[in-house]
Amino acid sequence: MLYKLIRSLLFKLDPETAHHLIMGNIDWAAATNLIRLVCPKPYRAPVEVMGLKFPNAVGLAAGMDKTGEHVSSLGDLGFGHIEAGTFTPYPQSGNPKPRLWRLIPAEGVINHMGFNNCGADQAIENLNSARPFRAQGGILGINIGKQNSTPVEDALPDYQKCMQKLYGVGDYLAIDISCPNTPGLTRLQEVDALEPLVKGIAEERDRLAAEYGRRVPITIKIGPDLADDTILAMSDLFVKYQMDAVTATNTTVSRVGVADLEKSNNPGGLSGKPLFERSTEVVRILADHLKGELPIIAVGGIIRADDAVAKMQAGASLVQLYTGFIYTGPELIAQCARAIADWQNR
Ligand code: FNR
Repeated sequence: MLYKLIRSLLFKLDPETAHHLIMGNIDWAAATNLIRLVCPKPYRAPVEVMGLKFPNAVGLAAGMDKTGEHVSSLGDLGFGHIEAGTFTPYPQSGNPKPRLWRLIPAEGVINHMGFNNCGADQAIENLNSARPFRAQGGILGINIGKQNSTPVEDALPDYQKCMQKLYGVGDYLAIDISCPNTPGLTRLQEVDALEPLVKGIAEERDRLAAEYGRRVPITIKIGPDLADDTILAMSDLFVKYQMDAVTATNTTVSRVGVADLEKSNNPGGLSGKPLFERSTEVVRILADHLKGELPIIAVGGIIRADDAVAKMQAGASLVQLYTGFIYTGPELIAQCARAIADWQNR
């Protein structure tokens, strides 16, 4: 009820301003327990995935805490894991504004942010914000990407640089090769380009695992705009090079179903309800093919608790939200966690 009121006020603001208003106030709202007015206490229903113990199956998708400064406050809302980032090796400002639009009738968002972030060195310091969350068992994922200015052929050293800087900082690493807003990035999903990249990431991980005496799990985040055959070939590579999970999916460049809506012709990736069907289909395709060899982290269009259960039914082991959090509010987190636990214990 209260979130509906807050949402109606936030929706009067330009979306990026609203985002900064929330992120700028979440720390004191969490510290004073004010956030309990808009969401219940975190719902615990532990699950083990990638060798890690998650307090529940619901996480925050990458892109909301792009600086890594608010992990524990966001965790207080009830997320079992927070994926911070995307971080690139060096700071960058992203694409020119405006770069974020709401498609309210469709419960969708178009973002053309372009990996605006503080860079990996600053991220190390900012991610101290995750300490209380991790001390309570929350899981910190660190999402990494390539610099906008790096030619796509030279992407591997960017990922390796981020791995070197951030390896010891979180619980798992997510490799973003599917953001449609970074020039050429999605070309890394073509199988010929993907194999050397995944191989290089696996080699760097082995080297770092030996150095740190700890093997940090890696998930690769893929997009929804791929042919089904390509998805299967990619997942074979992830198994071959011993990745630990696959995250499906990032946003879509498709405008099917929303083309007649105001603002739908803006550039960027579409998320939220219009993404749900394809993104869930990708989870199903992966699950049918992988047969449990790799867990799947499902993200894309979870707006109600039933959507989260549908992702699990399609074969996911964990789910993540972003756009549903904007439209439905923080109560969605515990609702999803409870619905998944009920479905698992049915
Ligand atoms: C994103 N997403 C995203 N993903 C990623 O891997 N790195 C990033 O930096 C971002 N940035 C970002 C910004 C904004 C404003 C949005 C809306 C989304 C994609 C996000 O993590 C998720 O994959 C999609 O949004 C689909 O999930 P939802 O939003 O439909 O729940």
